[in-house]
Amino acid sequence: MKSSPWWKEATIYQIYPRSFFDSNGDGEGDLPGITSNLEYVQQLGVDAIWLSPFYTSPNKDGGYDVADPRDVDPRFGDLEDAKKLIDRAHQLGLRVLADIVPNHFSDQHIWFQAALKAGRGSAERARFHFYDANSDGTPPNNWISLFGGPSWTQVEDGQYYLHLFDSSQPDLNWDNPEVNADFEKTLHFWIDLGVDGFRIDVAHGLVKEDVLKNHPDPQGLSNALRLDVDMDPEKRNSLLQSVPYFDRQGVHEIYRKWRLLFDSYGDREIMAVAEAWVHPPVNATRYVRPDELHQVFNFDLLTADFDASVLYDVIDRSINLNATVNALPTWALSNHDSPRVASRIGSDQARALALFVFGLPGSTYIFAGQELGLPDGELADSDRQDPSFFRTNGEIKGRDGARVPIPWNGEIAPFGFSTGKPWLPISQSWSEMTVEKESNDAKSSLHLYKNALALRREHLSSQGEIEWTESPHHGLKSNELLSYKRGAISVIMNLSNEPQECDVAGKLLVVSAGTVDAHNGKKVIPARSCAWFIS
Ligand code: NOJ
Repeated sequence: MKSSPWWKEATIYQIYPRSFFDSNGDGEGDLPGITSNLEYVQQLGVDAIWLSPFYTSPNKDGGYDVADPRDVDPRFGDLEDAKKLIDRAHQLGLRVLADIVPNHFSDQHIWFQAALKAGRGSAERARFHFYDANSDGTPPNNWISLFGGPSWTQVEDGQYYLHLFDSSQPDLNWDNPEVNADFEKTLHFWIDLGVDGFRIDVAHGLVKEDVLKNHPDPQGLSNALRLDVDMDPEKRNSLLQSVPYFDRQGVHEIYRKWRLLFDSYGDREIMAVAEAWVHPPVNATRYVRPDELHQVFNFDLLTADFDASVLYDVIDRSINLNATVNALPTWALSNHDSPRVASRIGSDQARALALFVFGLPGSTYIFAGQELGLPDGELADSDRQDPSFFRTNGEIKGRDGARVPIPWNGEIAPFGFSTGKPWLPISQSWSEMTVEKESNDAKSSLHLYKNALALRREHLSSQGEIEWTESPHHGLKSNELLSYKRGAISVIMNLSNEPQECDVAGKLLVVSAGTVDAHNGKKVIPARSCAWFIS
């Protein structure tokens, strides 16, 4: 039985449009390319797709630099293509989430172009954060952009504007009511075209306070906020306790207004998920209070080690915190901003962890290509396009590795993705990981995902809470088994490098790798694997 509303226990497939499928041979994925492959997505067994931005954009930050939020960039098609995609998805029973980017516009947006022309003190500049330089000509404060380099860029008349990301992404001033009015127009526009909800980019960033204050460690803070920068967890945690530009109370007022807008569509069950990596984690629950948004991403699994204590803490905390506001958690192992999970923790481990989280309450997000077990693409520096690579002079390699296009079929790269030269090269070593090869291999990652998602739908989509059966608080020997029971299903993960015997009743439903043998009346779970049993 499917739970209601649809998004409560959904599986949502994230598509990065530029990397999915190229229908016109220009080397970049596009909307018709997605539409023509939606059956593949439906057959995976997911409930919805989330599309990263496809709006008019100079593409300085993979489309998260939006120049017209109510139109489609020609590299992806046009509005009619967007409509066709949405309609086809609905025909196939898939919901569609669009990505909305309210923290900033592109510097090519007409508002910013007008602000440049209008000059200091103008109404046009008041839509952004423009300030005069300090008396010595330096920027108004010492903040470092999340992509490296100063958070401020100077314009011709000497004023500076704030950009938490690239200099081509001026931050919007949400104290100005014109900004919310324009975003509400955009939300209506896409809902009226047929989308079922939104992923809200930098949802915790819109309201700024103390824009003129310096930070004691701006460089450390900028690194701590990046999912692709490795950092000692304690150091990261302490830096993230106070981020002057994120998670201010004012953002919640915005989401209360948006919730009324979503709810005005009644039984269309429009939903929104916040990209809000906030600290301490309890703060995330504020975004999913009953009158705010529906979900908030839990980013902790994107950085968590494959370690029983760490995983237990992240999962248990997320379930319990969300419960305090009557919300369900979300789970994501990969996205377009983080290293792919197979590269980060290993491919066996990635399969095991996917199976482990598919049984949990709440919604699961799957980043396209994750189902194939893809690692990060190997790229030369000359291939890289991520602004953070350029803004840090190559010190941070950036996120392109996770964005390498999907290998579909055939023996030779680019494996059917495009008839042209792909915007990022696909390694020939991916020849055994194409959709075609994995579809014909019962042991493939793709088969595991399909199988597990079907079992999740059948047995777990409305089964309530979990009960931990092996965890650091149940006599667990360091880092071996982690397990829980939910309804009739027992989920057991062996994190060690040796097979482990365990007491578990019931019939095996699925295992992420190898086979489960019996020994002395116990089940033997293969090394680095996860299994589901039904009693
Ligand atoms: C988060 C998005 O996921 C990322 O790709 C983007 O660069 C930043 N927000 C800025 O929009």
